[in-house]
Amino acid sequence: MLRCATLAIVCTLAAALPAAAQVSGKAVFEGKGNCHVCHGRNAEGGPLAPSLTDTVWINIDGKRESIVKLIEQGVPKPVKHPTPMPPMGGASLSREEIEAVADYVLSLVKKPAG
Ligand code: HEC
Repeated sequence: MLRCATLAIVCTLAAALPAAAQVSGKAVFEGKGNCHVCHGRNAEGGPLAPSLTDTVWINIDGKRESIVKLIEQGVPKPVKHPTPMPPMGGASLSREEIEAVADYVLSLVKKPAG
């Protein structure tokens, strides 16, 4: 009986910890993922890559799933920019890091007022 109670506490604690506590998407964006080099430190875009803070998506529908997939695969043929986006920004990212940086991108999108 006591053992069950202890297990329940451990499980509850584990479930309460957000995944982002282990990998910071912001750190990936500004660090090993190279994202900031093209998309800009504030992700507002530049000559090499589009803004990720607006609600305009060029290659995807903007759902989390499509962002994860795009980061994984890169953009071999950009629509409006001169050079391709390499898969994972040219870095080697774990699944967890890809999902964390996708969540970070989602957190930047400015929702339309209202
Ligand atoms: C070498 C420059 C470069 C790097 C590094 C880079 N990107 Fe990109 N990114 C691009 C280009 C170019 C596009 C496509 C723009 C186009 O189609 O005109 C793009 C598109 C995207 C899109 C889709 C935007 C849209 O509107 O379709 C997302 C999301 C994105 N990048 C996220 C990231 C993330 C996250 C990282 C880091 C892991 C990253 N990028 C690293 C150049 C880069």
